[in-house]
Amino acid sequence: MAEGRTGEGSLWGGRFEVPPAEAMVELSRSTHFDWTLAPYDVAQGKAHAAALLRAGLLDDATYSALNVGLDTLAEEVASGSFIPAPTDEDVHGALERRLVEITGEDVGGRLRAGRSRNDQVATDLRLLLLDVALSLRVELVALCEALLDQAERHHADPAPGFTHLQHAQPVTLGHEIGKHVQPFLRDLSRLADWRTRTSVSPMGAGALAGNGLGLDPVATAADLGFADSFANSIDAVTDRDFVAEFLFIAAMIGVHLSRLGEEICLWATTEFGWVKLHDEFSTGSSIMPQKKNPDSAELARGKSGRLIGDLVSVLTMLKGLPFAYNRDLQEDKEPVFDAIATLRLVLPAMTGTVATLTFRPGVAGATTADGHALATELADWLVRRGMPFRQAHEVAGRAVKAADEAGLALWELDLADVDPVLDGAHEALSVDAALVARDHPGGTAPSAVAEQLSQARAALADFG
Ligand code: ARG
Repeated sequence: MAEGRTGEGSLWGGRFEVPPAEAMVELSRSTHFDWTLAPYDVAQGKAHAAALLRAGLLDDATYSALNVGLDTLAEEVASGSFIPAPTDEDVHGALERRLVEITGEDVGGRLRAGRSRNDQVATDLRLLLLDVALSLRVELVALCEALLDQAERHHADPAPGFTHLQHAQPVTLGHEIGKHVQPFLRDLSRLADWRTRTSVSPMGAGALAGNGLGLDPVATAADLGFADSFANSIDAVTDRDFVAEFLFIAAMIGVHLSRLGEEICLWATTEFGWVKLHDEFSTGSSIMPQKKNPDSAELARGKSGRLIGDLVSVLTMLKGLPFAYNRDLQEDKEPVFDAIATLRLVLPAMTGTVATLTFRPGVAGATTADGHALATELADWLVRRGMPFRQAHEVAGRAVKAADEAGLALWELDLADVDPVLDGAHEALSVDAALVARDHPGGTAPSAVAEQLSQARAALADFG
């Protein structure tokens, strides 16, 4: 940078005597990650040019030259024929440098009037995340559909249900699989209401105090497709709630993927044997020839850690930050871009993993009643005959103890021997009866599961 001049690729310089040191340039430069914002910055530049025209700050000829220049710039960015130079400080500086090259300084040099990188970068990031949220929605819907396909196939097949990783009560395999759809439906709904809060334009807020050139933020917001414009110009340039909230949703999706991944790992063990992994979504071992490992599920579990880390990075950066813009805010981008890239890797791989799993309902079903999983049915049978549950629990508990001592299953026991009140209680010890009895909404009866799954399909269609 020559003394007292704006350096190439920067947007400032007049009041400086010497250019920044090399170490400062290296620290400051953000083009290696913020170039992702380039198409949005150009689009936003076009809306800003229109605002300048409306305010009478551009004549028609200059406006149309600016527009043609911005269109050329958009094409060069899209084709990759223009990329930032090492001397460019950030995406905004690089694009203005090129715009001036294309249109000349008398045209391109006018676009910065009334705007600041502070309102620009906040606008660009909102526009990008709003787009990304749409593609995430598509990925999440695809995963839910894969889960629903499997759940529907097995909606009536019995399987053990667990608490504390111990056999608890019988459920159906479709119920087990369907339980994974609900968290992702909530994520879809989180993304939908996040959109409403995020569709607010910061353009026109300038550096922090608004603009003094008569530019109408409401019209610019509408031009850019935002639902609303900012309420407070200081808040507009410093608010990154939309980034933190997006990252929370990403982390929550990561946690849901992780719990699904963990279950797939468990189901694929020799001990469980509930599922067979497809070759396409598993990997082998460099030493053990027999191995087929659930790496997609493990990576989903592992990568949830970095999604949580991305959220924590941004929250930590925001905590205690003075108002309004501070350069710390530049650190919002890498975590959010990392979260997006991570989800774009994991979601399709998990959808493929789920879609290609072969469930083995016979294997899952064979152990449904093991571990005395029908003991609650025994207690409920007594309750239906008028016994207080507190007492029924104890009687059924004694039956479990007797069965354990004799090394038998509950239904192999002479129940009346344990307690005469249990005479005839064998009829309670049926997996099918236990399932059918739970035919309320959200229950595990095959009919209730079928209803649950069709409601989930309908909810998904609303997001699709
Ligand atoms: N590269 C900056 C960022 O990502 C753009 C805004 C710079 N604003 C400033 N006042 N230095 O936040």
